[in-house]
Amino acid sequence: MFRSKITGTGHYLPEDKITNHDLAKMVDTNHEWIVERTGIHARRNAKPDQATSDLALIAAKQALEAANLRATDLDMIIFGSITPDYIMPSTACILQEKLGAGNCVAFDLIAACSGFIYGLATADMYIKTGNKKNILVIGAEVLHNYVDYTDRGTCILFGDGAGAAIVSRNEDDNDKSEIYSHHLYSDGSLNKLLYVPDGGSVSPMTKDSIDQRLNAVKMNGREIFKHAVRAMSKCSTEALEANSMSADDVSWVIPHQANTRIIEATAKHMKFPMDRVVVEIEEMGNTSAATIAVAMDKAIKDGRVKRGQNILLTAFGAGLTSGSLLFKY
Ligand code: UT7
Repeated sequence: MFRSKITGTGHYLPEDKITNHDLAKMVDTNHEWIVERTGIHARRNAKPDQATSDLALIAAKQALEAANLRATDLDMIIFGSITPDYIMPSTACILQEKLGAGNCVAFDLIAACSGFIYGLATADMYIKTGNKKNILVIGAEVLHNYVDYTDRGTCILFGDGAGAAIVSRNEDDNDKSEIYSHHLYSDGSLNKLLYVPDGGSVSPMTKDSIDQRLNAVKMNGREIFKHAVRAMSKCSTEALEANSMSADDVSWVIPHQANTRIIEATAKHMKFPMDRVVVEIEEMGNTSAATIAVAMDKAIKDGRVKRGQNILLTAFGAGLTSGSLLFKY
């Protein structure tokens, strides 16, 4: 068995923003309500010529540079997203070409907002077994195409963005950086709490589906909220127990940035102080698979997250999926 570590990270958020004041002109809502209930002030909007792979490309280049690797050093690309460039081929293959990553293995992974943690966990397993050495994990979305801007229950939440991490084999015995564990879950019985009804094989896209906005995200917000707190608390507690750690041993929790109240409720449940929780939702909203990757890279770049610290990631998403990943950075 080999050890794996996170060697580089990167992120990109489009410059254009949709503010709460912009949304208040489209639906019956207001800045104060959105801030109080979600913590979000603005979400990012990719330009029409920016595909999910374009956002990911910028994040991936940063991560490669931070890891001191070239694209041709990659053995695998795992692309977590629910908003691919095309139905086929995979966005991972598109990114591979844009990066000039040679012929490494490249595939997409659909676990919604848990996609980045699922991707890191998959990368860790390939590295632990000795099968691969350097893996690029992406969480990236252009979600605004799937948002119904007449539905005030969902349009206040979602935005576009991309994050990336390189997971590499750690061959240096003196370097204690390591992915310790991951705990992943899926509960398919809750699949209708958060989904896009049309555009798949059950109900292919028609003019009617677009007119009725059935190609956009539908969500039972209250139910998702409850399950989110429960799921993230459960898998985070498991992560600590599996590594014989307490909250005091962890420097930072980086949760899925879906809603500040969900984050605060989860931290309270875990008895984890909010001043050691990374919250970056205010200016980006919920970017699904990208949120943790973006928040982690921001916290690394501004010096909150440092080498040698224990870091706990936790997420939940459509499926419902959930997961945690505990590592020494
Ligand atoms: O990555 C996973 C993605 N999904 C999530 O994370 C969703 C999790 N859920 C949430 O974030 C919250 O449920 C929401 C932010 C979506 C909604 O907040 P809430 O505190 O659960 O509100 P609610 O649905 O219980 O609605 C409370 C009231 C309702 O009015 P009445 O029935 O009490 O008169 C809603 O109609 O607030 C109303 N409301 C709004 N008012 C102003 C709902 N949306 C809005 C809005 N502006 N945008």
